[in-house]
Amino acid sequence: MSTTTHRPAGPALLDLPGQTHVAEGPLDLNGMYLAHHAFRRDLASFAAAAAGTPVGEIDVWRGLAVRWERFSHVLHHHHTTEDDVLWPQLLDLVDADGDTAGRATLEAMEAEHQLIDPLLAACAEGFARMADRPDEETRSRLAGTTRQACDVLGEHLRHEETGALPIVQRLLPQEGWDRVEEAAGSGATFARTRFLVPWVADGLTPEQRDTAFSSVGNGFRVLLWFTRRRYARETALAFRYA
Ligand SMILES: [Fe+2]
Repeated sequence: MSTTTHRPAGPALLDLPGQTHVAEGPLDLNGMYLAHHAFRRDLASFAAAAAGTPVGEIDVWRGLAVRWERFSHVLHHHHTTEDDVLWPQLLDLVDADGDTAGRATLEAMEAEHQLIDPLLAACAEGFARMADRPDEETRSRLAGTTRQACDVLGEHLRHEETGALPIVQRLLPQEGWDRVEEAAGSGATFARTRFLVPWVADGLTPEQRDTAFSSVGNGFRVLLWFTRRRYARETALAFRYA
């Protein structure tokens, strides 16, 4: 699925490459879908890069270590926001609704985050080591760990998109979603934003970008203009062999 879905009622929701479901409803979930698309895209590139980058390409490994730090910071913030602000609100709402299947789905979301964390830590250690003292054994182990992280995160995102986000649309009021969006945007320094804007826009069609900007604010168009060249340069280095 790679087109934008336009619906007569409610916001136009993105349907991006790799996305497994569009949860129809009144809330604008595009920030969530944009993040999921970028997580899938980058993790696939990390797995390909770990398998394909020659051990002696130290500048590329350093680029990969920097990119991993930026990527994993965004992913950690995304999961923390969901665990601290989104799932607790929804758990109260499914309980009030007597929805035991909904509770099981939401509990699985938190449990799956716990499964992903050690894999991300192992990837971080592997990329840091390859940027410092590269060796074939570490590279080979990292190729396996990044592939595993890609698979586990992909399965989690599928579960979230097909199981949890429809519950969000069904039960969460706008003010509850506003709280999630506010937490998602908190703590963003200039350096993080300079990475985040072109990172989120990477790989979108012009039409998907228009939909994204109408959700996250047209002010980001200007930021994208100023940040895209540096991002493209750093991406080309890190993923040279992906
Ligand atoms: Fe998510």
